[in-house]
Amino acid sequence: MKKIEVKASSKNYPVYLGSGIFKSLPKLMKSHTQIKNLFIVVDSNVNSLHREKIEKLLASGYKKIKLLEFTSNEKNKSISTVQNLYSKLINNKFGRDTIVIAIGGGITGDIVGFVASTFSRGVKFIQVPTTLLAAVDSSIGGKTGINFGNTKNLIGSFYQPDFVLIDTDFLNTLPEAEVVCGLGEILKYAYLGGEQFHSTVVNNLSNLIRLQPLQTFRIIESCIRFKAGTVEADEKESGLRKILNLGHTFAHALEVEQNHSIKHGQAVIVGIVCSLFLSNEMGLIAETYLDKYLELPLALREKIRIDKCNVVEIYKIMLRDKKGRGGKIKFVLLTQPGKILIDVEADEEKVIRAIENGVSLFV
Ligand SMILES: NC(=O)c1ccc[n+]([C@@H]2O[C@H](COP(=O)([O-])OP(=O)(O)OC[C@H]3O[C@@H](n4cnc5c(N)ncnc54)[C@H](O)[C@@H]3O)[C@@H](O)[C@H]2O)c1
Repeated sequence: MKKIEVKASSKNYPVYLGSGIFKSLPKLMKSHTQIKNLFIVVDSNVNSLHREKIEKLLASGYKKIKLLEFTSNEKNKSISTVQNLYSKLINNKFGRDTIVIAIGGGITGDIVGFVASTFSRGVKFIQVPTTLLAAVDSSIGGKTGINFGNTKNLIGSFYQPDFVLIDTDFLNTLPEAEVVCGLGEILKYAYLGGEQFHSTVVNNLSNLIRLQPLQTFRIIESCIRFKAGTVEADEKESGLRKILNLGHTFAHALEVEQNHSIKHGQAVIVGIVCSLFLSNEMGLIAETYLDKYLELPLALREKIRIDKCNVVEIYKIMLRDKKGRGGKIKFVLLTQPGKILIDVEADEEKVIRAIENGVSLFV
């Protein structure tokens, strides 16, 4: 089992990464805290696919354990789910001495983390990510949140977990579409991490799609280390951490415009393509390099399908996105892998052209 330390300004914590390590959860919890009241929220698909493992956790001798199933989708990443979880905590007499555990993908982790950060002004919180996307990205760094109105992740908090446990065995039951979603965030790291990591991801794309254990493990570890380093430098996203939003301004707007029929990780891939086109429009990437950098996301093109979409509507949604400042949208763009620009403003027609060029490749 690997142990990767995240040293955020608000808290230091470990990420445990390994195959078959879920069974170590009770022992790890005991080494972190004396608290014996567990409130577990588990993704309903994970609970049915991995019931045996989860039942063993329930039989691990804790004083009080409550397990709830959560049906994961963007519509349920809502204030009413949060209210329901608060009620369950209160009705079952959980107090400040509670460990809240999220077992599931990014949606489960984001919403349960938000509940843990606000219930009784914050209780112990453990993330057990079970999707590739959550393993490489959402479970680390302490961003929690829910969708509100028509805006993704509008309400939320920065709340670091006490630890993260990634058992790669969970990934074996992921449908291919969810593996592709995880690849969306891995592609992001491929552009952020520099030419060498970009080449590693390009050369291992087919290994990653098949979740080939050794290569997948190494790449998950690299992504975690990259994210941990970024969070250490800028926990609250006042500067450097914004690079992790590469492709996300486009992606969030596309998700809303498509009424969430496209998954987040797939939308990130389309969003990265739009960012590459916008980088080219802004004179940051020359045409020859644009084609080279597009190869990676376009290798996944057949696995992502958008029925039809309204490009101007996507732009309008971006305008009202919380990351817009004073009506101006700020983009994360790049000149080459590892050379990233943040807070870039762009003319409307360039942005719309970038969306048109990007989205049209997937329709
Ligand atoms: N907090 C952050 O820093 C951060 C970063 C990136 C993304 N996110 C958020 O993460 C969310 C997307 O996360 P996601 O892609 O994991 O979605 P998800 O949580 O909905 O999981 C995707 C699907 O996989 C299923 N699933 C989960 N684990 C499984 C397993 N082991 N085997 C089989 N099926 C399994 C789920 O039931 C679900 O249907 C978005 O809401 C996004 O905004 C947050």
